[in-house]
This record gives sequence, C-alpha cells and structure tokens, in this order.
Amino acid sequence: MSEASNNGPGPKSPKRRKLLTLTGLTGLSGLAIASWPFLRSLLPSRKAQVLGAPIQLDVSELEPGEQITAEWRGQPIWVLKRDDEMLRTLASENLLDRLRDPDSEVRTQQPGYAKNEMRSLKPEYFICIAICTHLGCVPVYRPERGAPDIDKDWQGGYFCPCHKSKFDLAGRVFKGVPAPVNLVIPPHSYVDEETLVIGIDQEQTRMR
Ligand code: FES
Repeated sequence: MSEASNNGPGPKSPKRRKLLTLTGLTGLSGLAIASWPFLRSLLPSRKAQVLGAPIQLDVSELEPGEQITAEWRGQPIWVLKRDDEMLRTLASENLLDRLRDPDSEVRTQQPGYAKNEMRSLKPEYFICIAICTHLGCVPVYRPERGAPDIDKDWQGGYFCPCHKSKFDLAGRVFKGVPAPVNLVIPPHSYVDEETLVIGIDQEQTRMR
C-alpha cells in the first residue's frame, strides 16, 4: 500500500496526522507558492514510485469533503471524496459558464473514462495530478464556499497562488486565468469498492 497525506478534515490515525502536519506546515509558512520539486522533498520517496509502478490506496476511511495526497511517479496525486453538495455544484449551469473547457474536450488531460461531467470513474472520488497546468506549482485545496481572497462567487475548488489560476472540484480551469487547460487526471482504476489503483487504467484491472 502507498502512503498518503491527508489534506482534509478529520484525520484519524497518527500516521495521517503526521502527514497532515507536513501539509499544514507547508501552507502556514507560505510555501504553498513553492513549486513541486520542493514539496517532493518533504514527502517520502519510494523506489517503486520512482520506477513508475502503480500505487494502491485504501479510500474506505475518507470522509466526504476530505482529501489526501499520495505520490506516484514523483508527482503529487490528490484523492478527494466529494460530498453531495460538491457534486451538485459541479453540475450547475452557473459554474459551467465560467469554465474554459467544461466538457473536457482537450483529450490529453484525462483518460477517456474520465471524460464526463465529474471527470472520474466514480462521481464521489476525484483523482488528479496536483500540478498546475500553467507553470507547475501545486495548487491549494479550497473547498469552502465564498472566499473573498479568491473570488466573490467562489464555490469551492483549487487555487494556485503562484499566478492565481482557479480550478473547480473536477480540476476544470476557469476562464480568464493563466492556466490554459484542465488539471490532468492520471490513469486509475478500482480493484474493489474501496481500493483505488493509480497508474493502471480501468480496462486493465481485474476484480479481486
Ligand atoms: S503556476 Fe499556477 S497559475 Fe502559474
């Protein structure tokens, strides 16, 4: 199993708390504007990941609204469990009108099975490479509604503090920001209801 850090509310285990502390320190010190190579130095490096092997994650303990960060091929990977309100927001016309590519038409940004409204295999789980498509900073998870420092109409999403790009909770980029395209969805699949594999496409996965 791969280790993952928790970015969301309600960490339960000491391991999760420790990893959350790392993430929290990053934000508190203003280092959220740092680029990915710095974050990588904080996270445990594993030989298998360097070699590009798939990683397996147990997502059974994720609470709605909670996000963890894992590492795959030297990149940070977010796994967010979206709640019902998040899912409703992602389908709202009000939001879609403000997005540059709401239908994920840029094919390089997601596998075919994630070219849908929620950009995921299962609506509640959002899996994404946590690297801004502008110049490679790591955006910040900002799930709250209303964030005057970002946007008066903010309904939750990801904010890149480097040059103020904004993405919704499906990683879709807003119009009028520097990032040109949506965040990248990595190949992923499920071997059972609660076990996620990053690095293997759904079609290649056999159920246990
Ligand atoms: S790197 Fe994210 S907005 Fe520039």
